[in-house]
Amino acid sequence: MITYVGTANPGFSPYAMEELRRRIRGTKVSGLAPGETFSFTSGDHDPEALLTELRRKEPIFLRHLFPVEAENELTGSPEQTDELLQAYAATLGNRAQGKKIAIQVRKEQNSPFPYTSAEGRDVIAPVIKELGGEVVAREADWIVSVYATKKKLYLGCSLPRDNLSDWPGGAVRFRKDEGLISRAAFKLLEAERAFNLPLDRFSNALDLGAAPGGWTSVLLERGLKVTAVDPAEMDPSLELHPSLRHIRRNAADVSFAPGTFDLMVCDMSWDPHHTARIVSELAHVLSAGATGIITLKLMYRKPFQSIQDLMEDYSHEFDIRKVKQLFHNREEVTMWVKRK
Ligand SMILES: C[S@@+](CC[C@H](N)C(=O)[O-])C[C@H]1O[C@@H](n2cnc3c(N)ncnc32)[C@H](O)[C@@H]1O
Repeated sequence: MITYVGTANPGFSPYAMEELRRRIRGTKVSGLAPGETFSFTSGDHDPEALLTELRRKEPIFLRHLFPVEAENELTGSPEQTDELLQAYAATLGNRAQGKKIAIQVRKEQNSPFPYTSAEGRDVIAPVIKELGGEVVAREADWIVSVYATKKKLYLGCSLPRDNLSDWPGGAVRFRKDEGLISRAAFKLLEAERAFNLPLDRFSNALDLGAAPGGWTSVLLERGLKVTAVDPAEMDPSLELHPSLRHIRRNAADVSFAPGTFDLMVCDMSWDPHHTARIVSELAHVLSAGATGIITLKLMYRKPFQSIQDLMEDYSHEFDIRKVKQLFHNREEVTMWVKRK
């Protein structure tokens, strides 16, 4: 049986833990940092088969995991910490030789772990190099994960794909480009990666609830024609863009010719069931097989029930491909659908 450290968005670990309890027979789940990290075991499952299954159908709220290969009490003294980190790294042996290794160090608030992430990495890096490995930040063959709680140090090594995300704790970072219109843009950029949906594959997009234009600006940058629907104003830098048409109306009051768009995105801040009704009524303006990326607001504090009800609402017009709470989602999750 293997123990893993799991991470969810702040406040959502109870739901991630509940999902795993439902999925993994015999698992033991226990909280680490309140609301965010926890440990769980592979229970009655073969660990290899479990990871394949979790990759095949990703849990909604589990953002990241890594297997624990060493677990030690932490005193906080730099000498003891160095010893623990380096002794673990030395056990990697053949796994490091000739391989690219990313070292990801995280710590819980108030942990006595005496280093920053970069300093922790610098303690481990020489051992990896001695074993014949190359320390990299991205595109690694293996990821060495270090997680320090108030009392313990958890260490493990895994293939990036088995962690569900190759970012430390699944915290996907984008460069904060100059002139970014809204932080909401990160949600679409993250969805593009998480769902493996290169946006430049599409040509004509409908953006519902588009203002001030973060998602629209991403789509325009990818070369798409965009019809943005929102009663609110778009950022002035977008209004004159030749590929943008802004319709200043409620999305319930617009209509287009059938099959006009091959992509619909929707980040409308409204009751999620109303949003589902509006989006479903507009389904015919999408071509058959068109893609949709929709944020589902979790307004009623019962995420599983809300998500299930909303999936039911959307399933009349759409095939639901995936629902995931992305790192950039707050009280919401993101859904990827295809028009039936
Ligand atoms: C979270 S903001 C969208 C942010 C946008 N995705 C971005 O990247 O800048 C939500 C928007 O939904 C719009 N909205 C809410 N209800 C709407 C409706 N019924 N029809 C159209 N837009 C709506 C609001 O005016 C608001 O601008």
